[in-house]
Amino acid sequence: MTDLVQYSKDNDVAVITINNPPVNALSPGVPEGIAEAVERIEKDPSVKAAVLIGGGRTFIAGADIKEFVKLTSGGRRGDIGIAQYLLTIENSRKPIVVAIHGNALGGGLEVAQACHYRVASPDAKVGQPEVNLGIIPGAGGTQRLPRLAGIAKAIEMCTVGKPIKAAEALECGIVDRVIEGDLLAGAIAFAREVAGKPAPKTRERNEKLGTPEQNALIFAAARETVRKKQRGLPAPLVAIDAIEAATKLPFEKGCEEEKRLFYQCLYSDQSKALIHVFFAEREVSKIPDIPKEPQIIPVNSVAIVGAGTMGGGIAMVCANAGIPVVIKDTDQGALDRGLATIQKNYATSVKRGRFTQEYVDQRMKMIKTTLSYDDFAGADMVIEAAFEGMALKKEIFAELDRACKRGAILSSNTSTLNIDEIAATTSRPEAVIGMHFFSPANVMRLLEIVRGKASGKDVIATCMQLSKKLGKVGVLVGNCRGFVGNRMFLPYIREAQFLVEEGAAPEAVDKAFVDFGMAMGPLAVGDLGGLDIAYRIRKEFRHTEKPGARQPFVEDRMVEMGRLGQKSGSGWYKYDADRRATPDPEIAALVCKWTADANVPQRQISAEEIVDRGIYTLVNEGARILEEGYALRAGDIDTIYVNGYGFPAYRGGPMWYADSVGLKKVYERVSEFHKQHGMLWEPAPLLKKLAESGKAFADFQRESAHATD
Ligand code: 3HC
Repeated sequence: MTDLVQYSKDNDVAVITINNPPVNALSPGVPEGIAEAVERIEKDPSVKAAVLIGGGRTFIAGADIKEFVKLTSGGRRGDIGIAQYLLTIENSRKPIVVAIHGNALGGGLEVAQACHYRVASPDAKVGQPEVNLGIIPGAGGTQRLPRLAGIAKAIEMCTVGKPIKAAEALECGIVDRVIEGDLLAGAIAFAREVAGKPAPKTRERNEKLGTPEQNALIFAAARETVRKKQRGLPAPLVAIDAIEAATKLPFEKGCEEEKRLFYQCLYSDQSKALIHVFFAEREVSKIPDIPKEPQIIPVNSVAIVGAGTMGGGIAMVCANAGIPVVIKDTDQGALDRGLATIQKNYATSVKRGRFTQEYVDQRMKMIKTTLSYDDFAGADMVIEAAFEGMALKKEIFAELDRACKRGAILSSNTSTLNIDEIAATTSRPEAVIGMHFFSPANVMRLLEIVRGKASGKDVIATCMQLSKKLGKVGVLVGNCRGFVGNRMFLPYIREAQFLVEEGAAPEAVDKAFVDFGMAMGPLAVGDLGGLDIAYRIRKEFRHTEKPGARQPFVEDRMVEMGRLGQKSGSGWYKYDADRRATPDPEIAALVCKWTADANVPQRQISAEEIVDRGIYTLVNEGARILEEGYALRAGDIDTIYVNGYGFPAYRGGPMWYADSVGLKKVYERVSEFHKQHGMLWEPAPLLKKLAESGKAFADFQRESAHATD
């Protein structure tokens, strides 16, 4: 038996423990070890039943995803080889009871389905999240789950991929008993109850498989929902095909069909991209110059400066994570308005069933307000979310320096300003860092953590760890204008404007990006955020542009005539009272006139060119950021774009996408645009270098820490 699986006995019950930290993934050796243990109990007459349990913090979190990468990159041959071992478990004549705590996900739930009984602790979760990796269950999950939970539930779990809690798993038949208290003791007692009885095989249970008539309706409705809600993703539809096979074919044939479909998905570009996103999101927390077990500053209370949209959203994020907050603003009216907005947002969540009223009442009790910095004295961390403006931020940080205790983290939610300049107004620049939340802060997962020149390693490590507690994906970035996300986004938005000025209709530009997979088109994003805000930023930073560089002008004129986007009822689109957008003939006429006056030649522009120009501006700027050291890895940039900018995860993020197109091709296209459109398209040196040496962004790894301005 391998070290990965341990065998012990509690009198007449064998206990098989999986020991593959941190998440007991089904790495090579684990399924084999379980099967060997099962063969051993078959041979031992003193054993009447067995319990299978996970050691450490969880049951099995799934197949080992690293093995998938080895398979698809040619580093390993054969197949994932889990299914055959599950048959060994299921064929055991002595009942095997699986005891689930933590998570039973993907292959983990498939192992559980092959056992004869399933018990779980109350906080356990079970799920088939494979679609999030662009694949479907591949070890019998699409064949056994419908037999346990019914067709509709199996479809929901395999297409949406969201795990369900133990109580729900009990209700739908996946779990046989929820055990309060000691799980192992409860599972052993359960095993004794069923010892000596025939061990029921899930694969032989057909009572929940439904009739062809019922199923036809369920499958049709499910396919329609998936097409609407999971645009651009084939895996959920394939999962439905595999579950349909369970209703039409004998178990063995159904498994063969599942296997065929599983490998079809695994070798797809989408799956490779989604697996990259999975690992990139975990890689971001690894900072080369920060020790693996860093010093962490306990954050048990947070103070927030500013009760506006961002401050209020951040307060909700902290309260939701169980951290009490105090919000400061300059007058009572601002505080009252801020609290009212928080209350309204929570009320919407209650109405939508996301939170209970009791939960919200508890959260509201954690949010206090004040007009004085003196109430910040005990705070472990401050998050400043006042208006954007260096003079104001400097004033605030000087106050914070006076009012806050030594050791407190002083952070700013600035999206554009220089963290080092802010830090310099304090006597403790090592305590200062950027915490750039994205709006709405209580919804968006991304958090850019901006490292200043002096930011302490303990401060950085604490913020990275805190981001997880807050339910965010924290990505450490260097201190440059716009940091990583907005620095790339500005040229992308600008390119969309150029495309309109050259003859593309605004709705054609947005449609091309939405068809590519972006959550929204760039012009619609501008309308949502307010064109006046982008206008102000453009004016403020125009002096920093290269002399002679092309500037878009149409959007400036729109703002000057009061077209500010959704809030004024018109921008790139016309908006009705419910803020529904329609193309606006007036804007088409204005663009036509203004571009004629400015002698901008007009032409037909293909969707392909629109996408290339938008996405390759992101890539070109991303390459500069990477080379200059403002992002640690290409995967960090991808994580930022997938979590904060609506970039389709199934394309892996802009840098992964460029790698998958091939950097030689991307470089050639960028060079073409450079010739056609001038200096803004000058290829980034790193893009050129990697393209010429046949390498990819994924090959580029910086050893040094982040650059700062
Ligand atoms: N395979 C390989 N490594 C895995 C893994 C898996 N299935 N699941 C997690 N890990 C690794 C992570 O990469 C991370 O490694 P690192 O420390 O080197 O960065 C470590 O385990 C801890 O993971 P997290 O940081 O994500 O830990 P959390 O506690 O935040 O979350 C979790 C735990 C909820 C289990 C989360 O890791 C998760 O969602 N994992 C993936 C679950 C999944 O998708 N399972 C299905 C796999 S596909 C499959 O099973 C196919 C089958 O049908 C054949």
